[in-house]
Amino acid sequence: MHQDLEKILITEEEIKAAAKRMAEEIERDCSDEDEIVLVGLLKGSVQFMAELLKNIQKKCTIDFMCVSSYGKGTKTTGRVNIIKDLSEPIDDKCVIIVEDIIDSGRTLSFMKKYFSAKNAKSVRICTLLNKPSRREVEIDVDYVGFNVPDEFVVGYGLDYQEYYRNLPYIGVLKREIYE
Ligand code: IMP
Ligand code: MG
Repeated sequence: MHQDLEKILITEEEIKAAAKRMAEEIERDCSDEDEIVLVGLLKGSVQFMAELLKNIQKKCTIDFMCVSSYGKGTKTTGRVNIIKDLSEPIDDKCVIIVEDIIDSGRTLSFMKKYFSAKNAKSVRICTLLNKPSRREVEIDVDYVGFNVPDEFVVGYGLDYQEYYRNLPYIGVLKREIYE
């Protein structure tokens, strides 16, 4: 285990099993005519996107967006800044948003409206982690890997000040690192 962690919350094996289960759920919910596009939100979703993608057998494409939400603790309108937009149109496609973690829900609430306005056929949300106790806006989450307690977690794509994304598991960061 990395020395900056208090404990490992979710192992690599558990994440792989969850990604397989979620891929099956996604395939079950899509018809054979559906054009599936997985849209990963950078940078946190990279590891999860790769694992999820390997388990999808149906024809699909992938794309990425990079957005930044207004800082935590500040008053937000729920708007986010788009740093990198989609590279292909999503008209009439079945969009699956792939995210690392849902906290307040503001980022995904914005993204869902954004994709609907771009004429997607459907927009669904697939997140590796979910912190339901932190929700500020109501949002339907279609596929959840794990519900986690209100602790700061890193690894498997998730960062603290851009570090720890490389860890192959999810762990709780020691308080002394960020306090
Ligand atoms: P929100 O749902 O709009 O509040 O934003 C969720 C985003 O906050 C995620 O995509 C992460 O980038 C970040 N985030 C929230 N909780 C954590 C955590 O425990 N560890 C690392 N990043 C987090
Ligand atoms: Mg993120």
